[in-house]
Amino acid sequence: MVGVSGGIAAYKAAELVRALQRQAVEVHVVMTASAQKFVQPLTFSALTGHTVITSLWEEWGPGAPEQNGIDHIAEAQWADVLVVAPATANILAKFAHGIADDFLSTLYLATTSPVIVAPAMNVNMWNHAATQGNLETLRQRGVGIVEPGTGDLACGMVGAGRMAEPETIAAAVVSALGRRHDLAGEVVLVTAGGTREALDPVRFIGNRSSGKMGYALAEAARSRGARVILISGPSSLQAPAHCELVRVTTAEQMRGSVLARMDEATLVIKAAAVADYRPLAVSAQKLKRAGLLRLELAPTEDILAEVVRRRKAGQLIVGFAAETENRMENGRAKLLAKGADAIVVNDVAGDGIGIDSDMNAATFLTRATAVELPQMPKRQLADRILDEILTFRRPRPVVVELDEARDVEARQKQAIQDRVLDESLPVGAGRRQLIVE
Ligand SMILES: Cc1cc2nc3c(=O)[nH]c(=O)nc-3n(C[C@H](O)[C@H](O)[C@H](O)COP(=O)(O)O)c2cc1C
Repeated sequence: MVGVSGGIAAYKAAELVRALQRQAVEVHVVMTASAQKFVQPLTFSALTGHTVITSLWEEWGPGAPEQNGIDHIAEAQWADVLVVAPATANILAKFAHGIADDFLSTLYLATTSPVIVAPAMNVNMWNHAATQGNLETLRQRGVGIVEPGTGDLACGMVGAGRMAEPETIAAAVVSALGRRHDLAGEVVLVTAGGTREALDPVRFIGNRSSGKMGYALAEAARSRGARVILISGPSSLQAPAHCELVRVTTAEQMRGSVLARMDEATLVIKAAAVADYRPLAVSAQKLKRAGLLRLELAPTEDILAEVVRRRKAGQLIVGFAAETENRMENGRAKLLAKGADAIVVNDVAGDGIGIDSDMNAATFLTRATAVELPQMPKRQLADRILDEILTFRRPRPVVVELDEARDVEARQKQAIQDRVLDESLPVGAGRRQLIVE
């Protein structure tokens, strides 16, 4: 579903529709009232062969508003991706605040599919704190933002605000479509946030984890079709929609919830920053200030190691390692020591990335590979991490040798016929190799 809102770049939405059609994507178009001041709906109905949706309402007879034939809920369910290009400052504000006063903004609230926006506007409108705040809200919520470029703007000013090229926007849509159902049937258990270990009735030892990375992973997994169980330490974030949220406070509660729910999961991602130590004794009364205070700390249980020990066949387990030094060495040591399938290694010493930040950079580490994931918003990184997990899970091709004696070969081939990837590898007299999934 391509949404067109009322900016100068509205005419470029026609190029976007064409670019999507070249990729064999079926397109419906919805236009805001302002968009129709810039481009005629006829342009899009001619390109798509479908009626362009121009209103929630249609006038039937003198002055009597009736709902027209197009149902926004049905359209919301039809759409695999909603992309808005150009996205005006106004439509971004409406999306961010849940205002549903026309077809496009109502559709946004009604769809559970991935949403992508390609903003375009005057540089001052773009830089305005209101617009940037709304974009941040949308980004947190998992909306994909195809950033505008910098250059000459239609208003005569120079700066950020030019809509991204239609081909770039189409590529973002195609990538979202590719991911749309690739976790269908999976049950993903994600842990997020930090834990709190009580010292007395009012104080605790905690850490700066905000839960943003884990919540982004939960949101990404859900939008790719998984059932998601999100086990979260205290966090001020709003839980992603349609995830089963389990709230915990301490490392011990986190352990209990993870062990109780892990059997349901096909994939466990441990992004929480769980305390390594807890106070040995918790004071029943509030501690009073009285000179030097020594605390005795006891180690908490190692949840990741325990999850690995209890894993079922086929269950994939991915841990996180937050490191401030010797990132790769420590990450690899953790991977081997814990027996997880992969470790996402974060550098939390850098400025503006990692703990409590909106950005992150990481290395996805398995026993055989190390994939660098450069700095990007956490929601985007979440998708890249899930991509890597799926690549890791995909069965690797194996080579099977066949005996060319006729009946033996026929029997052998029948057993594996659905899984043959390549047939043409003769290896010496009387023997051939097949590559099998
Ligand atoms: C000539 C003209 C060009 C405009 N271009 C833009 C634009 O590029 N981006 C934008 O956010 N608003 C632009 N506006 C303002 C929007 O059209 C206006 O905020 C409108 O309410 C947006 O409605 P919509 O979001 O429902 O489409 C423009 C207005 C005019 C008159």
